[in-house]
Amino acid sequence: MHLFCPIIMKAVIPVGGRGTRFHPWTHINAKELIPVVDMLDGRIRAAIDLVVKEAYMAGITDALLITAIGKSSIKDHLTKQQQVGELSNDIRLHYTDQKEPKGLGDAVLCAESYTKHEPFVVLLGDDFHDKNPILQMRQVYDKIDKEKFGGIVITQKVELENAKRYGVLTVANVGEIFEVKAVVEKPEHPESPYVISGRYLLSNFIFDYIKKTLPDKKGEIQLTNAIKLMLADGYKFYAVELEGKRYDVGEASGWFRTIKEIGSNFYNA
Ligand code: UTP
Repeated sequence: MHLFCPIIMKAVIPVGGRGTRFHPWTHINAKELIPVVDMLDGRIRAAIDLVVKEAYMAGITDALLITAIGKSSIKDHLTKQQQVGELSNDIRLHYTDQKEPKGLGDAVLCAESYTKHEPFVVLLGDDFHDKNPILQMRQVYDKIDKEKFGGIVITQKVELENAKRYGVLTVANVGEIFEVKAVVEKPEHPESPYVISGRYLLSNFIFDYIKKTLPDKKGEIQLTNAIKLMLADGYKFYAVELEGKRYDVGEASGWFRTIKEIGSNFYNA
């Protein structure tokens, strides 16, 4: 059965985290403003520019950035980029503060009144791609049955020992579109190499389930744990394998690899 299928126009971009892996630099600076090399023209941009651009290139018209006290530089930066024409004004940017950095689920919950009743995409603020994963998820969204629709995630296959750093998916029907059977946040002994890779397309029911999600050992509300509760209630989640490359600049080694790889196309060491 195909239910009414709204077009996805809204994005949520959480940028309210502490950025502890970049201390001491992030005591004052926002991690999402870390300089990166733009693979299109070699110019130096902030990571968040490329995240917002990814949303815009996928036809998103509105993005809500979940910021935090002390991270207003993100708004200043993006406002300036739009003023000087470095970033399109055809994507409207909105801002709200997460009171405390209590995890990704808690950050997404700040978008409840903004998304109204529409499904929306979530883009982490500290990674970007050479091919557009939002377009990939939208293609899947157009194909799937919308009954009890929970969401779609981008997945990547990684070495099993590395999977413990991510939300790990158990998937079935390994083909073009995977069905998600289970998800577990940073398991000690991962049983699957498929991990969630920073991009989500979520139904609005997620908010009810984030509210029911208990904090983890670190006191954080994890988005993956809300997805887990939805799966238990019969909601359907799908995964699609990332085409192209993900550049995760949210930790030092990923940032350094990214600078080296993209930078070497434009600059001599
Ligand atoms: P990360 O876990 O990579 O960011 O979250 P972090 O928590 O800032 O980093 P560390 O672990 O302390 O080094 C991915 C994205 O989600 C945002 C972050 O700002 C980042 O862009 N985030 C994370 C929030 O908005 N709120 C949170 O409570 C946690």
